[in-house]
Amino acid sequence: MKKDKILVIGACGQIGVELTLALRKMYGDNNVIASDLREEHELLKGTGPYVSLDVMNKEMLHVLVIRHNITQVYLLAAILSATGEKNPLLAWHINMASLLNVLDIAKEEGLDKIYWPSSIAVFGPNSPRQETPQHTIIEPTTIYGISKFAGERWCEYYNHRYGIDVRSLRYPGLISYKSAPGGGTTDYAVEIYHDALEEGSYKCFLKEDTYLPMMYMPDAIRATIELMEADSASIKVRSAYNLSGMSFSPKEISAAIKEHIPTFTISYEPDYRQQIADGWPQSIDDELAAQDWGWKPEFDLPKMTADMLKNLKTQKGM
Ligand SMILES: NC(=O)c1ccc[n+]([C@@H]2O[C@H](COP(=O)([O-])OP(=O)(O)OC[C@H]3O[C@@H](n4cnc5c(N)ncnc54)[C@H](O)[C@@H]3O)[C@@H](O)[C@H]2O)c1
Repeated sequence: MKKDKILVIGACGQIGVELTLALRKMYGDNNVIASDLREEHELLKGTGPYVSLDVMNKEMLHVLVIRHNITQVYLLAAILSATGEKNPLLAWHINMASLLNVLDIAKEEGLDKIYWPSSIAVFGPNSPRQETPQHTIIEPTTIYGISKFAGERWCEYYNHRYGIDVRSLRYPGLISYKSAPGGGTTDYAVEIYHDALEEGSYKCFLKEDTYLPMMYMPDAIRATIELMEADSASIKVRSAYNLSGMSFSPKEISAAIKEHIPTFTISYEPDYRQQIADGWPQSIDDELAAQDWGWKPEFDLPKMTADMLKNLKTQKGM
């Protein structure tokens, strides 16, 4: 039997750290190679092999895949929405070239499976904003969304044309306490918990009634693994699946925090990220993910808030 050997690219990011640790539990520490441009994340140290890798260097990536007999790649390296708007050409270049490098090596080496995340940022102001369906008007207005939409098309193309088993999810904003977020528009929903505990107040860069689709990291990790473990025949969407967890506004997350910290206060000072958020859906219809591979979220806002505050308190020694 062929042994699975997994390469995680962008392993030191918000998703990468937790996904690498989860994959190591399932596949064995030495069968999951973590890689990133950055130094190894503290939480990964001592848990398994780590290599320094720039995914833009295709030759180096190719050698790594051959040398370690890699069978699956999780590509998480990307420039996120807010950072992307500061340097659009760089974001386009990195987000596209990284994916094409991985897809092409997958084709040449006959890799078993590829995972690459898309985002709710593929939707734009002309998409329905409530319960946004899988198939609808997709006219993204950020360079991040444009690169994710183009990436989805490439994934489907490599699947149809070359039979590559590539799978993808349109993640909503992800909330976690283990590793810091990397420059997205939904980062406020992580910062707010830190500031609530440390300062007792938070200045929000979005307006109080800005609803966005969100998900707690344990749900996102489980969704990723369930998608990747599903039988290939059940994966009907080869671009990227809609995925839903919860939907809330800054005012609502603030009320949920007040249940635990009654003196907490929030103020609002919207910046350029308001415009990005205004072009995105408020909630997502993920019927196909439920139907094809049984997706069901576990965390809602109160449950996530209790868990975030408990874990952050421990982390901060409070
Ligand atoms: N976090 C979210 O809320 C969210 C939502 C939707 C989609 N996503 C997608 O999920 C993926 C991972 O997101 P994240 O939040 O963990 O991002 P992140 O910014 O926290 O992590 C990305 C990692 O990739 C690394 N990286 C960047 N360029 C690289 C390169 N050239 N070579 C190797 N590594 C490189 C970075 O050092 C970083 O550690 C991305 O594709 C992102 O678009 C994230």
